[in-house]
Amino acid sequence: MTLKKSTQVCIIGSGPSGLLLSQLLHNEGIDSIILDRQSREGIESRIRAGVLEWGSVEALQQAGVGERMMKEGIPHSGFDIAFDGDRHRIDLEGLTGKQVMIYGQTEITKDLIGKRLAEGCDIVFSATKVQPLNVTDKRPTVTYEKDGEVFEIECDYIAGCDGYHGVSRKTFPASIQKTFERIYPFGWLGVMVEKPPVAHELIYANHSRGFALCSMRSETRSRYYVQCSLNDKVVDWSDERFWEELSIRIGPETAANLQTGDSFEKSIAPLRSFVTEPMRYGNLFLAGDAAHIVPPTGAKGLNLAVADVRLLSRALIEDYKNNNDSHLETYSKTCLKRVWKVERFSWFMSTMLHQFNDFSGFDKKMQRAEFDNIVDSEAAQRNIAENYVGLPLE
Ligand code: APR
Ligand code: PHB
Repeated sequence: MTLKKSTQVCIIGSGPSGLLLSQLLHNEGIDSIILDRQSREGIESRIRAGVLEWGSVEALQQAGVGERMMKEGIPHSGFDIAFDGDRHRIDLEGLTGKQVMIYGQTEITKDLIGKRLAEGCDIVFSATKVQPLNVTDKRPTVTYEKDGEVFEIECDYIAGCDGYHGVSRKTFPASIQKTFERIYPFGWLGVMVEKPPVAHELIYANHSRGFALCSMRSETRSRYYVQCSLNDKVVDWSDERFWEELSIRIGPETAANLQTGDSFEKSIAPLRSFVTEPMRYGNLFLAGDAAHIVPPTGAKGLNLAVADVRLLSRALIEDYKNNNDSHLETYSKTCLKRVWKVERFSWFMSTMLHQFNDFSGFDKKMQRAEFDNIVDSEAAQRNIAENYVGLPLE
């Protein structure tokens, strides 16, 4: 027997995209159900990046989930780019008048899940066989199974917020879907440690042995990364080896302030650029990682997801409140223009700052010239700063 449910917007995926969308819709009286294949514990323990554009900060505040972020987050006015021992600060605030906020995505997810559940949202965790159906119909459906029972949700719209490995994107007919991808020939090994950060601001470093990033989660918790081979396994990297390698790549002066210790999280992530077009099929709309992936070098993954969801929530609210579907019609086009600009910035930062095995002597000179151009040109710094603090929504 199939158990029936009904809602206005069925959201697939309980990551930051799906949760924030549900919250923004709820704030305008629009009902949603969220389905996720993972457990709540699984979702709340995923470690991801930690830099928020100011637009994302404001969106979370306006949504009513900014309280802990404003207390525990750390505003940053700049960051450093280092190249073979030379270092230059990008003065975000001086160049754009804006800051970014250091606050872990894991914490945002916890804040959102807590608020959504407290407000009575139906979030179905550990749902299996989630499947959008009849998405071009006026009332599409989503089916799933939970605890051995089969459910069917009837809705007006489906939001595919189910990340890169989700089912939503796969529902698009091949005849209308175009995908674009670049796989980078290396990964990032990330380490979390309960020690104060090596510097007050982030440092992105290109060294002849590979990229390194010094980041943080709080005044007492640091997050560090080094570029590694895709063949490497986490067990190949003892803490000792990691600290040694990081120290070399950030240089002796910076490393003199490095507080090392036992890591409590260590993982390797591949780097990928990916976009699927369009972001809408019938009444199914994609948002966040379901539609695009950026390499983490510009700290854009979550911010891009927040921008999509701001646009999608506005479009849905306009449709429900004013019977105006024009923003739904332009959703995909509006998002994709911004998505490609953010893809460009993330690709640019990744290309400038990593060691590529197949780079010629000329390519390496180009990387150095990019860095020298940034150091010598305020216009180049401003362009980086504008992208880093976040491009306008439209
Ligand atoms: N059925 C139901 N849920 C699914 C399915 C499926 N077939 N496939 C994936 N999901 C769920 C995942 O379990 C996950 O909780 O969808 C959610 C997608 O969440 P994210 O991957 O966090 O994607 P998104 O919400 O778009 O967030 C984008 O957060 O994940 C980071 O790197 C990402 O920073 C980016 C931002
Ligand atoms: C992080 O803190 O995890 C982080 C920061 C900046 C990035 C990527 C990751 O560009």
